[in-house]
Amino acid sequence: MADFPPGVVITDQIATAVAKYLSAHQFSMLGVLVDDNTFKYCYPLIQESLPQHFIIEIASGETHKNLQTCQQIWNEMTHQHMDRGSILINLGGGVIGDMGGFCAAIFKRGIRFVNIPTTLLAQVDASVGGKLGIDFQDYKNHLGVFQHPERVLISTLFLNTLPFNELRSGFAEVLKHALISDAEYWHKIIQADWQSQDWAQHVEHSVEIKSGVVKQDPQESGLRKILNFGHTVGHAIEKEYLSTANPFLHGEAIAIGMICEAYLSHRKTTLGKEHLMAITQQILKWFGNTSLDPSLVSPIAQNTLQDKKNTNGKIKCSLLEGIGQATFDIEVTLEEVKEALEYYQEQAV
Ligand SMILES: NC(=O)c1ccc[n+]([C@@H]2O[C@H](COP(=O)([O-])OP(=O)(O)OC[C@H]3O[C@@H](n4cnc5c(N)ncnc54)[C@H](O)[C@@H]3O)[C@@H](O)[C@H]2O)c1
Ligand SMILES: [Zn+2]
Repeated sequence: MADFPPGVVITDQIATAVAKYLSAHQFSMLGVLVDDNTFKYCYPLIQESLPQHFIIEIASGETHKNLQTCQQIWNEMTHQHMDRGSILINLGGGVIGDMGGFCAAIFKRGIRFVNIPTTLLAQVDASVGGKLGIDFQDYKNHLGVFQHPERVLISTLFLNTLPFNELRSGFAEVLKHALISDAEYWHKIIQADWQSQDWAQHVEHSVEIKSGVVKQDPQESGLRKILNFGHTVGHAIEKEYLSTANPFLHGEAIAIGMICEAYLSHRKTTLGKEHLMAITQQILKWFGNTSLDPSLVSPIAQNTLQDKKNTNGKIKCSLLEGIGQATFDIEVTLEEVKEALEYYQEQAV
């Protein structure tokens, strides 16, 4: 059972870890927040280690990460008479972690919460950094707060029931962490085929990288921005496809975003051509040659003008100076973003 950074436990004995945490802490009441899938697939893995508790079940999916669902959660917490001595366990992916944490942080000015992330994405990314929140109107994570869970208990056992596309979505963030800060790890990942990926090791590595970065810049005023590599274009793609019949999962959009931003890195910084080619080929190998609908390329480029990292109307990207080395606040033009998207289209055939 590794405990790093403080508060994050990675274990293959999840039931024991939950029991250990709960027996070491006093609380007046225990609530467990799940969605329909995590109730079915994940709750049975910890059920035996839970003392008396009640369950709050919400519908799964990003479309439910909103105020209406928060109201459902707060209603139930109120109905159960949860007081400030209570604990909420958030058992699920990033949606449950972000929204359950947000609900706990607001309820009666804050009750304790423990996150048990059950998707690879939530384990390698949302598990660290203390960002909580929900979507509002058309804006992702528009309402939220920074607050850390009392404990994050991670087990890759949960990944056994995760659909392939969800696992691959989290894998994009694993690749990102290697690309921005660990060339050796990148080479290790790309040498293994899909079947031999070591998920436990990837989770440990990602948690280590992300927590190292967050520790140096908790409020994202500088260095933390490197975690956004692939996300300026990735978010723009995600947003444009959201209302189509085939929306991208977050990691799938970020994978394409990383290819585009590797192109921008080559164009604007010191990333060599051979590295651009290697990144492109590897990502296409894992994620497939999914070309973008040509009619959406221009709106996608326009979306990057709305990115949260922009200042004074300028598009600011986090880019690679080399494999394993990232930089941030690099200004790119709308034309360059379009060029990067065209580059992706040429490669993904
Ligand atoms: N707070 C942060 O720093 C941070 C970082 C990255 C992403 N996020 C947020 O995380 C969310 C995306 O997270 P996600 O991809 O985990 O989405 P998610 O929570 O919607 O989970 C994806 C799907 O997998 C199902 N599921 C979860 N665990 C399962 C399991 N073990 N077996 C079978 N099915 C399971 C869920 O029910 C859901 O249908 C986004 O809202 C994003 O904004 C937050
Ligand atoms: Zn991401």
